Amino acid sequence: MALHSFLGMEIGVPNPSDLAAAYGQIGLVGDQDRWGTRDRPDQIRIVEAPYRQLRSMRIGCENEGDLLALRQRLTSLGVEAEELPGQVSCLDPSGHWRIVVEVAAPSSLSGSPSRVHNRPGERGRIATRADVVTEPTPRPPRRLGHVVLGSPDPLGTAKFFLEGIGFRMSDQVAGLLTFMRCSSDHHNLLIQPAPVPYLNHYAFEYDDIDAVGAAASRYLEGQEDRHVVGLGRHVIGSNVFWYVNDPCGTMVEFFSDMDDIPEDAAWEPRVDWEISRFSSWGPKEPPHHFAFPPDLEAIGRAQEGEGR
Ligand SMILES: [Fe+2]
Repeated sequence: MALHSFLGMEIGVPNPSDLAAAYGQIGLVGDQDRWGTRDRPDQIRIVEAPYRQLRSMRIGCENEGDLLALRQRLTSLGVEAEELPGQVSCLDPSGHWRIVVEVAAPSSLSGSPSRVHNRPGERGRIATRADVVTEPTPRPPRRLGHVVLGSPDPLGTAKFFLEGIGFRMSDQVAGLLTFMRCSSDHHNLLIQPAPVPYLNHYAFEYDDIDAVGAAASRYLEGQEDRHVVGLGRHVIGSNVFWYVNDPCGTMVEFFSDMDDIPEDAAWEPRVDWEISRFSSWGPKEPPHHFAFPPDLEAIGRAQEGEGR
């Protein structure tokens, strides 16, 4: 096994305090610039930046041998790597995202209180109200699960992550959208076409569909304009989803029940998915701004000013 986990990310926004307030609102734990969950307390770092952006991703690997193999792969692709004790990092080909791979111990999540359901022919909850109804606050997010990046060269960017960093491909849509993993999640990263390199969304895992529904509903109270699309279940990855906007204009996906693919499990990536297979139930297709957010042009102008 080489890569085994998505450890975290650094996100840059013009107004960090607004984002920090939203993270507190949805039940993340942290302070002004470091946020996470009860089991994984340091998954997101917020820094001030001129426009919203992903700045880095941290990926966990098993040992120094994995870092050696990584350096060799990067060299063969002509990618310059930086080394620090226990880690290797590099920039993606667009020069926007620093990918840090570090030796880390795999960390499991604590279990969650199970819910008892009533099903036809199988009544489990007798004379008791459903716990999602009686819980005083929605259950919090359990971890950061994945990010989705837009790229003007989606296949070249995917090649960098697959052949350079060492992600494993899970599925692909029409030769354009590449779902890949660095853990047993169906995807920790999706690369999709876009006019400029940008962060399309990041995603928090919740206990189950009730936790997703309760958390998104609570988040949208009084700020319904932050709703994007949901509730539904994706076809690729099978996850339940509800997408909202964070206060800086980046989409956040609340998800649960994603396909899990352990290292030694048989999994045949499909590369012929149709782009129309957005959901198996729920909204049949997302709004236009799901893939083309209104600030893309402004992000592109800001990037031109950076000269990258
Ligand atoms: Fe997602």
